[in-house]
Amino acid sequence: MKMRILVTGGAGFIGRWVVKRFLFAGHRVGVIDDLSSGNRQNLAECEASPNFEGLTVAGVGDRAALSRFFGTPAAPELCLHLAGQVNVQSSLDDPGRDFATNVAGAHEILEQCRRHHVRLVMVSTCMVYAPAVEGKAIDETHPVEPRSPYAAAKLAAEELALGYCRAYGLPVTVLRPFNTYGPFQRADAEGGVVAIFTDRALRGLPLNVYGNGSQTRDLMYVGDCVEFICRASLAEQAVGQILNAGTGQDTAIIDLASKVRDSVVESGARKVPIRHVPPLHPRSEIGRLVCDYGKVHRLLGWRPVVGLEEGIRRTVAWTRSRQGATAVTPSVEAGRTP
Ligand SMILES: NC(=O)c1ccc[n+]([C@@H]2O[C@H](COP(=O)([O-])OP(=O)(O)OC[C@H]3O[C@@H](n4cnc5c(N)ncnc54)[C@H](O)[C@@H]3O)[C@@H](O)[C@H]2O)c1
Repeated sequence: MKMRILVTGGAGFIGRWVVKRFLFAGHRVGVIDDLSSGNRQNLAECEASPNFEGLTVAGVGDRAALSRFFGTPAAPELCLHLAGQVNVQSSLDDPGRDFATNVAGAHEILEQCRRHHVRLVMVSTCMVYAPAVEGKAIDETHPVEPRSPYAAAKLAAEELALGYCRAYGLPVTVLRPFNTYGPFQRADAEGGVVAIFTDRALRGLPLNVYGNGSQTRDLMYVGDCVEFICRASLAEQAVGQILNAGTGQDTAIIDLASKVRDSVVESGARKVPIRHVPPLHPRSEIGRLVCDYGKVHRLLGWRPVVGLEEGIRRTVAWTRSRQGATAVTPSVEAGRTP
């Protein structure tokens, strides 16, 4: 069944891939994004689709802008909520802004969905969890223990959404992707570790590893993350569920730095040094994050398909084309063909 879908944060890294995938599948897709960290250019490929209903530049807290989507004959049947402040350091510097976007903003979306009976997929994060203990990956029953205003706000938004699900019967799904990387991720302070390492290595700059680099992350290629989000958004059996997705393997940040450096050297660039710098926010650091994705595999048959080396190779190729291009020439597809 073809649907009308609203993607909040659709001009961001993960959002633009989600929009592209849904358009390709024949759905009609609209985007609301305030462009605080995303950009219009990320949607350039989508503009050509007759099913693209355009980008509305507005915050998710902007009720007037939201009412142009909801409660109209062209209202969405499904809302994917990806918009948010995603930087842990920014949330520590300005927790109020984080709360306004990630909790109050999410609440505005929930209210619209409740009033107009729109299914909601809330994209949360693995950062809500307590660190993994040795020998056991994190499944959805693992204790939550937010260590930053960002993680706390995402958990609060999840709880609100699940509360609406129980109280009003609103069809809600909560997704907790693990760390996601790939083409179109920002490489500045707002970006992710793979994007930052890749960009710096290609520019001949040293890779900065916080502390001794033994902290681990489960790094999922964006194509796999998008497949997870799209599958969970369309499946009836995902309603009322919390679902993890990741690769099931974690990588120490110091090893990631070496892998990115090696991949960049293979692409013809020179080898850069790796240096240790003091951690920026040691109390917010999560020592070990590794996903148990058994639940989503059992429920929806999802599993990751892109390994870390291949994902890094694609990210290096894309970053190189971006750095070298005067015009935007994305050359790498995210994971599976959409
Ligand atoms: N990238 C990851 O590793 C990762 C992992 C787990 C979960 N997530 C979640 O996925 C979602 C997307 O993350 P991303 O990595 O694509 O980040 P991103 O910063 O690229 O995307 C977020 C988008 O939301 C927009 N936005 C921010 N505040 C807004 C507001 N108040 N109103 C409207 N738009 C607003 C930004 O402009 C941006 O386009 C976030 O909810 C994040 O918490 C990301």
